[in-house]
Amino acid sequence: MPKKICVVGTGYVGLIAAVGLSDFGNNVVGVDLDKKKIDMLVQGISPIYEPGVEDYLNRNLESGRLTFTTEIAKALQESNVIFIAVGTPEKENEEADLSYVEAVVDTIAENLNEYKVIVTKSTVPVGTNRWIKELLKKKTGGNNFDVVSNPEFLREGKAAQDFFHPDRTVIGYESEKAKDIMFRVYRTLNVTSVPFVWCSLETAELIKYASNAFLATKITFINEIANLSEAVGADIHQVAKSMGMDGRISSKFLHPGPGYGGSCFPKDTKAIVSFGKKFGVKMKLIDSVIKTNELQKERMVEKIKKLSGTLKGKTITVLGLAFKQQTDDVRESPAITIIDKLLKEGVNVQAHDPKAMDNFSKLFPDIMYCHTAYDAAKNADALLIVTEWNEYRGLELSKLKTIMKGDILLDTRNLLDPDDVKEAGFIYEGVGRK
Ligand SMILES: NC(=O)c1ccc[n+]([C@@H]2O[C@H](COP(=O)([O-])OP(=O)(O)OC[C@H]3O[C@@H](n4cnc5c(N)ncnc54)[C@H](O)[C@@H]3O)[C@@H](O)[C@H]2O)c1
Repeated sequence: MPKKICVVGTGYVGLIAAVGLSDFGNNVVGVDLDKKKIDMLVQGISPIYEPGVEDYLNRNLESGRLTFTTEIAKALQESNVIFIAVGTPEKENEEADLSYVEAVVDTIAENLNEYKVIVTKSTVPVGTNRWIKELLKKKTGGNNFDVVSNPEFLREGKAAQDFFHPDRTVIGYESEKAKDIMFRVYRTLNVTSVPFVWCSLETAELIKYASNAFLATKITFINEIANLSEAVGADIHQVAKSMGMDGRISSKFLHPGPGYGGSCFPKDTKAIVSFGKKFGVKMKLIDSVIKTNELQKERMVEKIKKLSGTLKGKTITVLGLAFKQQTDDVRESPAITIIDKLLKEGVNVQAHDPKAMDNFSKLFPDIMYCHTAYDAAKNADALLIVTEWNEYRGLELSKLKTIMKGDILLDTRNLLDPDDVKEAGFIYEGVGRK
């Protein structure tokens, strides 16, 4: 049994890892530089909206197995397994920014008072774990550690479910000692027969990028077919459903929409193209996925422009700001591109999101944020649904129609029944269906 686990970074991934590993029976300390976050966590309040996470947080705080602190040196010294879960955002040149990881590695080197396993949970380009190993060796002048790659595959909005019931757990390792410790850290998953992939550091790193790039490709593929569906008069839902019935294809990630966003797919697809280039491999397919996805977001603005005639001076309601439902995360959300373009066209934007308005208002402080979808629809010329929140499925269309000035409804997630919308008096357009 490991003495203690330290999770460095308590964002979307680190927080779930900390509460999850503690729920497995481990003693865990979560560390973050952000004092506000730690103050909330100590009180059992989740700084992010993620279904179920607050229950796990409180249950494990009460058990005494889970603590949070900003005192990183002490937490590192008292732990013998350290998970790195800090951000690896996109740099201007589209590579992954490893400066947060490097800063943590420096601090680990300064506090390596006994043998420790350093586990990289952050998504890092191939070669990073070997680089971490070299850095630690150089800085500590010894080998009193092992480095393990343990990429995270959770989906925001379903993070707790994914942590406790992953499709697989991938562990890149080089020493039997580290493998044995990792086996015990995750013993609960071993008992519940989750498949474990034990592999090299490079293989683990590439599995993560290949998985994200494939999912981004699948979304982009169905969006392209949806665009063709519109042109030829086919129904994308029947096309996607029938494709998904083929076991080789599977029905997941075949939902057309405004393009993928979020904290992972955009930056990870760019990073794999970038490190592919460094290794002398042109990632032409993924490169075209990135570009095609950008066009899909812009296409939504073109659609609303075509429906509305001129956009200048119009009032448009945007329902949904998060990059997907069940999260408050707005990183790379399609709503960012769409609203940015609408504002440049001289549109007055009235927005609503059940959870993401605080985060979005940091990016766009000057648009109008409304308490309800109906408030956001007041006197609007057109309405756009951008995030697939369930509450938008149940909108009272006749009420919307009386509140709005205009009659245009663009449903970028195909949430509504086109016949119902038309019956309520709207001009309706979705994605991939006429
Ligand atoms: N968000 C996801 O759905 C998801 C899924 C799988 C993998 N990942 C990967 O996991 C990593 C973390 O992503 P995230 O979404 O949780 O990021 P995040 O930005 O939500 O959280 C990162 C946290 O690390 C903290 N931090 C930064 N430097 C620190 C330091 N030196 N010491 C202590 N804390 C520090 C920040 O304050 C922040 O709270 C990324 O590499 C990401 O690609 C994310």
